[in-house]
Amino acid sequence: SIVEHTFNVGNLSISQLCQPPRIITAVNGQLPGPAIHAREGDTVVVHLVNQSPYNMTIHWHGIFQRGTPWADGPTMVTQCPVKPGGNYTYRFNVMEQEGTLWWHAHISFLRATVYGALVLRPRGGAEAYPFPTKPDREETVILGEWWNDNVYYLEQMAFLTGFTARNADAYTINGKPGDLYNCSNGNQTYKFQVQSNETYLLRIINAALNTPLFFKVANHRFTVVGADAAYTTPYETDVVVIAPGQTVDALMVASAAVGRYYMAASPYDSAIPQGPPFSETTATAVVEYVGSEGEETPVLPSRPEYNDTATAFRFLSNLTALVLPGKPTVPLSVDTRMFVTVGLGVSDCQPRQLLCNRSTTVFSSSMNNNSFVLPAPGAVSMLQAHYSGATAGVYTRDFPDRPPVVFHYTADASDTASLPYTPKSTKVKTLRYNETVEMVLQNTRLIAKESHPMHLHGFNFFVLAQGFGNYDEATATPQFNLVNPQERNTVAVPTGGWAVIRFVANNPGMWFMHCHFEAHLDLGLGMVFEVQDGPTAETSVPPPPADLPQC
Ligand code: C2O
Repeated sequence: SIVEHTFNVGNLSISQLCQPPRIITAVNGQLPGPAIHAREGDTVVVHLVNQSPYNMTIHWHGIFQRGTPWADGPTMVTQCPVKPGGNYTYRFNVMEQEGTLWWHAHISFLRATVYGALVLRPRGGAEAYPFPTKPDREETVILGEWWNDNVYYLEQMAFLTGFTARNADAYTINGKPGDLYNCSNGNQTYKFQVQSNETYLLRIINAALNTPLFFKVANHRFTVVGADAAYTTPYETDVVVIAPGQTVDALMVASAAVGRYYMAASPYDSAIPQGPPFSETTATAVVEYVGSEGEETPVLPSRPEYNDTATAFRFLSNLTALVLPGKPTVPLSVDTRMFVTVGLGVSDCQPRQLLCNRSTTVFSSSMNNNSFVLPAPGAVSMLQAHYSGATAGVYTRDFPDRPPVVFHYTADASDTASLPYTPKSTKVKTLRYNETVEMVLQNTRLIAKESHPMHLHGFNFFVLAQGFGNYDEATATPQFNLVNPQERNTVAVPTGGWAVIRFVANNPGMWFMHCHFEAHLDLGLGMVFEVQDGPTAETSVPPPPADLPQC
């Protein structure tokens, strides 16, 4: 069936953290925005009406968009932005995906407040979940960040100065910071009522701009059953680790004593050395058992240390896929192998940049030493250029399969003079239809080590292995999981380490791959896959919809 929504994007006045009310950009006056519920096989139609003062696009994070590449949403990659006063209808199908995804603005830092859940149930509804226990109820838990400043101007400042944006003022659960922050009482704390001994399916989304999070509920444990809308082998844990862009579906039984318990989201900061001061604060929401209303302060869970990489790695590397009949399995042969460094560096100032440090250069991010820039405003989107064939001045097809120099990627190279200089470019990697790609994603230690959450549009990939240090093919290959590797759209490459992914390029179009830290995306940590048409009309990029915005 058809699931239809109208998203009016506009101003919302809201007051948090003792600040005077301020105007944010929100969908239908809600923070988080409206959740979309659909079943596998449904068609989703969303009419975006832009009543905000900013250019806008929406991305349906994790949706394959097979046959609907014009609906993917990243600004200047698949569409020109919808201008203030303009509108655009996104139309796509939910195919071969069940679980939790989400939607967010894909322009500037506006996704800080323009985001919501995409809940994808099986064709047969909740009865058809392949879980060890059927949930009695479901709850969506969206983790986020809150800034007291206007995020559009934060992004402009970061971009213009070549510095990274400052940290959030609070983390949030379903839009609210919670009791541990000043002035966040009562209505600024999200409350979730449970009934003793019932089982809840928590759909957890990390919508934060720049922070991976630990998630716990005091005195409760989880059985993880899905991640990024792909089922996992049930995995027992008392802590969920979730990078920006990722989702986790977890069953939680209300098996504690009748009472009130905090759910808590606290930061995992993988940067080494530690970057500028960041917020080690914790967002909370209250899990309240029926019968405990109005009781004393909830129990707070112990939280992992902010730099607990061992806990993060254990959770993220232990998940495996639930192998189900008819589900795609990992391709065993590979057509194209890529080795791609992801990390930080320095670049030339751009003409629009106001301040430049280190005399003539600015901080930047790159993949294989190319710092990605979007086509200039006023050009056509990359997908329009691909479709028309007029790519000159929009992008070039020379994204390299390997980095230009081989170095000790994860060694302490804090001597900035030795940093490879990073040119700015709009390079794509062109793939034949149905080609199988293997990518080694290698984090670097230029400027800092970090766990970059690498997100691929248009596909899920299999995560075959991950580890620390420099990738070594001889020792890594025997560790590849070719039986039930986890399927993801976003992999948190271990800090100072690597991850190996595989995917089949069965989706013609232009597909962004980038770090889901918004600050890094802005600085160029991205590239685009150009997937060529297949042999039939169904396997080719269709003509653009009539209402596609023009630049
Ligand atoms: Cu959720 Cu390109 O992003």
